[in-house]
Amino acid sequence: MTILSILTAPDPRLKATSQPVKKVDATVRRLMDDLLETMYAAPGIGLAAPQVGRPQRVLVLDIAKEGEPPNPLQLANPEILWTSEEMATYEEGCLSLPEQYAEIARPAKARIRYLDHENEIREMETEGLLATCLQHEIDHLDGVLFVDHLSTLKRNILLRKLMKMKKAQAIA
Ligand code: NI
Repeated sequence: MTILSILTAPDPRLKATSQPVKKVDATVRRLMDDLLETMYAAPGIGLAAPQVGRPQRVLVLDIAKEGEPPNPLQLANPEILWTSEEMATYEEGCLSLPEQYAEIARPAKARIRYLDHENEIREMETEGLLATCLQHEIDHLDGVLFVDHLSTLKRNILLRKLMKMKKAQAIA
């Protein structure tokens, strides 16, 4: 497995719509495994293929807490079949927006259909952090970042902080 480099905003590749995979074959499985290794190394709890410059509808996540056994999920072509009217708010961050966090409200529950690592069609009922994390990652496949759920004012404050950080790093 390979650790891939993660794109950070602003980058037009993070705003693009990703394409579905035809099937989960050896190439897609390799991508899933590389994404998982890259996510663990970061460390993060979710990572989508466009974040490593691969515009395919593939994502990985693992919301197991420190000390709990790992619980990796690897999904291709995820579709949201249903979301609850009830909302839940979490403080979100993103490996493509380093050190930026904001409270985002999303549907509290979601039913998802996807292809797993073995190309089997699966459905999953999710709630809590898993539901939030999945919706965040699926957003990436449509070129949407968590800051796009904020008001323009709040989004610009976060993006400006990020630009300053990038500049400081470039100088250092
Ligand atoms: Ni993200």
